[in-house]
Amino acid sequence: MGAGAYLGGHLSYARGVGVDQTIYDAGSDDWQPAISAAQLADGVPERVIVDETPVLVVRRGEEIFAVHDRCSHRGCSLSVGKLEGDEIECACHGSRFSLRDGALRRGPATAPQPAFEARVRGETVELRRLNPVPASA
Ligand code: FES
Repeated sequence: MGAGAYLGGHLSYARGVGVDQTIYDAGSDDWQPAISAAQLADGVPERVIVDETPVLVVRRGEEIFAVHDRCSHRGCSLSVGKLEGDEIECACHGSRFSLRDGALRRGPATAPQPAFEARVRGETVELRRLNPVPASA
């Protein structure tokens, strides 16, 4: 038990591993209106609030990607990060995430970003969370 306490303390205080900043508002499992499709310029990330959750939305050609905007590492806004291919790099400490599914590609973050499916209905981009949170969570 002492080793576990030491390891937890070391990870928290020496290595700076913290709480996943997206855990309390992972996003809606139901389709929600997010932004006008006309507002999405190709390759320009936009920050929107969807059902009280900040979401980065970006158009890449014919595809629209969306991930939670609050970096899981320390909470910086990913929408001001650097877009490279299908990845976003956090401007604060350089973590990289896939825009396709929120997968962690490079730390210091240790958790992926919640990701969203996107569809266009009329003139509106709608989002819903990929991999919905189980009801027991
Ligand atoms: S807040 Fe994003 S990498 Fe640290």
